[in-house]
Amino acid sequence: MKILVLVGSPREGGNTELLVDEVIKGSVNNEINEDNELEKIFISNLNILPCTGCMECRQTGKCDQEDDLSQLLERINWSDVIISASPVYGNHLPGHFKVLFDRLVGVMHKIDNSVPGKLTTYSRLDKKKRNIGLIAVAGAPRESSCDQVIGFMKRVFTPESNGGLFLEMRAIGLSAKGQLAMAEDQLAELAAKLKVPDKKQLVDKMLDRNKVYAQQAFEMGEHLGGAEQETE
Ligand SMILES: Cc1cc2nc3c(=O)[nH]c(=O)nc-3n(C[C@H](O)[C@H](O)[C@H](O)COP(=O)(O)O)c2cc1C
Repeated sequence: MKILVLVGSPREGGNTELLVDEVIKGSVNNEINEDNELEKIFISNLNILPCTGCMECRQTGKCDQEDDLSQLLERINWSDVIISASPVYGNHLPGHFKVLFDRLVGVMHKIDNSVPGKLTTYSRLDKKKRNIGLIAVAGAPRESSCDQVIGFMKRVFTPESNGGLFLEMRAIGLSAKGQLAMAEDQLAELAAKLKVPDKKQLVDKMLDRNKVYAQQAFEMGEHLGGAEQETE
């Protein structure tokens, strides 16, 4: 399978990338799925210009701006699995990631509004089943902090899935860079800066959570990458 990973965080080595790398271990770098291919892209490293709102793409499916969009669209078309992972910024996606999704609206989707009161969205990409994995990472300790990001990405990629798997993951309470991979002493330093009554309890909770998230991400990768089909 061809696996495309879109990393929405600009922070290399951050929590989003750490989770994505676990998904990759589960989907690509395991013994079951030796033939899977991978492309991992940090969106902030691409040159994607903001949408100008000309609406031409709605009719033509093309955008006149010369940047990295068409190359990325080609990769999305190539993929059998899309993993779209984002930190939560201001309850939504980071700006550069949202810019990409604005630009994808008309080139990836065709909107049919010919029937009054009805709006249907079709994919302009090759029609094939794509498994979609969505990951949101939040600093806040509430799962609902991730809902906006997950819900938005789900709406975007639904026309591309064509009945493929949709898996979601919400990772919360992660603020510091690389927190997800921190050892106990590093987490203790982090906890020391916080005004919580029981720092040891917090460190234990963070350690447990890190393990659970790494495992969840790995399993997400196994499912998306087709481990089940291969072992049947
Ligand atoms: C500009 C900015 C805005 C943020 N806004 C939110 C927010 O609204 N809700 C939240 O839970 N976390 C918020 N965070 C925290 C990040 O989601 C959190 O630090 C996450 O672990 C970053 O992922 P990364 O390490 O992959 O970059 C914000 C972080 C930044 C830098």
